Amino acid sequence: MPRTAVISGGGTGIGYAVAERFVAAGDRVVITGRREDVLRASAEQLGDGAAYIAADLREPEGGRRVADFLTDQYGGVDIVAACAGGNIELQEPERSEEGLEGASWTWTENLRLNVMTAVHLVEAVKPVVADGGRILLFSSIAAYRGSGTGSYGASKAALHPYAIDLSAQLGSRGVTVNAIAPGYIEATEFFADRMTEQRRQTVIAQTHDKRAGTPADVAELAFWLAEPGAGHVTAQIVQVNGGALPGR
Ligand SMILES: NC(=O)c1ccc[n+]([C@@H]2O[C@H](COP(=O)([O-])OP(=O)(O)OC[C@H]3O[C@@H](n4cnc5c(N)ncnc54)[C@H](OP(=O)(O)O)[C@@H]3O)[C@@H](O)[C@H]2O)c1
Repeated sequence: MPRTAVISGGGTGIGYAVAERFVAAGDRVVITGRREDVLRASAEQLGDGAAYIAADLREPEGGRRVADFLTDQYGGVDIVAACAGGNIELQEPERSEEGLEGASWTWTENLRLNVMTAVHLVEAVKPVVADGGRILLFSSIAAYRGSGTGSYGASKAALHPYAIDLSAQLGSRGVTVNAIAPGYIEATEFFADRMTEQRRQTVIAQTHDKRAGTPADVAELAFWLAEPGAGHVTAQIVQVNGGALPGR
């Protein structure tokens, strides 16, 4: 029986790889993000099992739009992967200026980008998540060790208690809720063109397998957490970083 999965940020990077993994297993996927052209091209590449809907999940209306689409088209959803996110300091460095105003803007935008995109999606679709369903939040190694100014890591860390509380709310229906915390993952739009070769070599050297992570590494974990056999794994923060957390 094919399941229905909604994947925010599914037009690119890790979210796309998650969508690809579910499609490969015969599941239906709905990918969402802000850029309709990107979503359309990615859905075409994913093939018949894929649909898309554009939505800005920083606003409640975005979540409502996705929930209405899932209800109208499929009568609900089995798997929710809230992958949309990023570091606003990498996306708009010119606005992350120094001083109080810069810090205020950066913190606010990173919270909107990483916390509110997940909250708006999950809270909107929660009433139509099937019994035995799966909710996956996407954290980061930065939640454990920071990433510069604090705001990106803090926004990801905020998802950890959210996963635990959602799990407690939904567990009696057999719904599991976990957060995935990747380390450095290449071949996504996350770093734009701001990853230097020196920094790249440094973070690869911190892994125990001496390589960068790939979107497929994260997608395999997401897929496994959505398997029936993972039904007792809930309220967890699962790291996928090649052992990089200790930094040596
Ligand atoms: N790459 C890494 O090293 C790494 C490490 C740890 C954690 N992560 C996390 O993994 C997740 C995926 O990142 P990625 O590396 O795959 O980067 P990515 O390619 O930039 O993916 C981010 C996705 O989020 C979507 N998105 C951003 N803002 C949105 C909004 N307001 N509403 C709806 N969708 C939105 C983007 O699409 P639109 O721009 O079209 O909206 C994009 O498809 C993020 O949460 C990121 O923080 C990444």
